[in-house]
Amino acid sequence: MAGNGVRYSPGSRSRDGDIRSLRQEQPPSSPLQEMLLLHEGKLALCGALESIADSLPNRFERLTCLAVANTLLPLIRRAHQLEETNIFPAYDALSDTAARSGSTQRLRSEHVEDECFAAELTEILFKIGHEGAVGDAEVFGFMLRGFFEGMRRHVAFESEHIAPLIDNSLFRSRPEI
Ligand SMILES: [Fe+2]
Repeated sequence: MAGNGVRYSPGSRSRDGDIRSLRQEQPPSSPLQEMLLLHEGKLALCGALESIADSLPNRFERLTCLAVANTLLPLIRRAHQLEETNIFPAYDALSDTAARSGSTQRLRSEHVEDECFAAELTEILFKIGHEGAVGDAEVFGFMLRGFFEGMRRHVAFESEHIAPLIDNSLFRSRPEI
């Protein structure tokens, strides 16, 4: 059961690549809720990147490339900052087992790799968005698929293994009335 008003439903994520849904109507009520909202945003971006990969070499939408290029790094940097300062310390504090598992250390390493990778993709997306042509579509498609497949695995692990433990902990720690 989800506590603190958090809707925890990893199976319901959109993968349609509609990054318009990244606009937020209300501020999140907790770090956990914000992480889950950012996960939704990251998965929407993965969908958009997959659409771009599928539309190479010459059917891609330039405006979509520019929109994704504008959104990708700021969104994942916000997610990483939130997870590393709020979520992972809370997870590691839950039990020695969680801390010893090294999961958060691995996830932090993946954050560094993802930001480097996202910076490369952003540069190319801006270029093809402005110019309307891809230099090497095969290589770019390979890069895109490597990024969004890794990102989906990362988000799935955090949603399925980190979020429920944080959620249960918050729920259990609430005083009974
Ligand atoms: Fe993460």
